Amino acid sequence: MKDRAQSWLKIARWAPSGGNAQNWRAEVEASENRVLIRLSLRDPSADSRTLMDVESIPSIIALAGLGYSLVAAAANDGYGLVARRLTAGEPLANSVAELEFQANSDASGAYSNAEILGRRTHRAPYSKQSISKTNLQALSSIVKLYPTLKISMYSSSTQPAKENLISILRPLERLRWQHEQLLDELLQEISFGREISISHDKIAGDQLGISWVEQQMLRALKVWPVLRVLVKHGFHVVAVHRAISSFVRDSDQVGFIEFKSTNGNSLADYWDFGSCFQHLWLEAHRRKIAMQPLGLPLIALSHWSNEAALNIDPSSARRVADVTNRLQDQFGVDISRLTLGFRLGYLTDQQTLVGARRADEFHPISGRLS
Ligand SMILES: Cc1cc2nc3c(=O)[nH]c(=O)nc-3n(C[C@H](O)[C@H](O)[C@H](O)COP(=O)(O)O)c2cc1C
Repeated sequence: MKDRAQSWLKIARWAPSGGNAQNWRAEVEASENRVLIRLSLRDPSADSRTLMDVESIPSIIALAGLGYSLVAAAANDGYGLVARRLTAGEPLANSVAELEFQANSDASGAYSNAEILGRRTHRAPYSKQSISKTNLQALSSIVKLYPTLKISMYSSSTQPAKENLISILRPLERLRWQHEQLLDELLQEISFGREISISHDKIAGDQLGISWVEQQMLRALKVWPVLRVLVKHGFHVVAVHRAISSFVRDSDQVGFIEFKSTNGNSLADYWDFGSCFQHLWLEAHRRKIAMQPLGLPLIALSHWSNEAALNIDPSSARRVADVTNRLQDQFGVDISRLTLGFRLGYLTDQQTLVGARRADEFHPISGRLS
């Protein structure tokens, strides 16, 4: 039974996580025909949290995505979910989700194991081909299954909207590069092929969809922190410009997922958010549509939820306020609350929907087996 649960976890751990942190822990308790899997964060301490992992909400969302895949993988093995217990921690990072499974001959997963294993983040430019209305409706209807959430999408055919979005988001991207800790976090997420110590769970530099020269530039900033002084002199401007404009332009659709209501959110709401995001992504993958999340709004969330943590000067704070207001006024998206952006599109003929993450790029899922 425990081996069974491990085999589901081995499939589910291909779920996405911010910065590929895979900040999850699983404990398995098995009896004759029941399995209880207790999911929590591997490293819940506030000290280890990145600025982008605001109050551990993005980590909890990723954990819920793992949970979503786990339920599908168990069902594919003939085990249905019979109970789900969410226990909110104080702080949120100490929350626990218990998923209980029982053998059920009718169980069948919403997505096959091959689909769960095949989903990837695609960071290269997408083709100019438009996503059909039917596909877009199918994706929107996934979000409708989660009553607390809403989705908004903008197509590349509405070019002014896209260009507007680029100019609105650019100051946030610039802030990320000018802020010492945010830049550090960005560079820490990436591993460049010839680095002395390659961490197995980083995003490979050659997956970033940027040129070799730009990769070397990032690598230089990472390897020789002294070069970061150049950022103060505008060294990063081209990269900032490219990062956000290619994200928006080289796609068919750019979208946002957020909560409908402004009420305070519970663990169950965040769990729904993460499940929905993973559900949407698996559906996109099934329809051969590539997807890349945009975590940039989390910088604004970091500022709005705890100004002291992000600790930016008054002029940067005004920039964040301006970005927030403009997005609200022109796109109806409120990044002072939890919002995840994403882009969608088809890959070009040379690219394949299966990405480059390797099976060894994992933290072992830690936890007790009893
Ligand atoms: C909350 C969250 C935010 C993310 N933000 C970004 C992002 O801003 N840019 C990006 O390229 N990928 C982003 N990702 C995707 C992760 O980097 C990716 O899932 C991880 O590196 C594992 O790779 P895979 O999705 O190809 O399996 C995000 C994922 C999550 C769950």
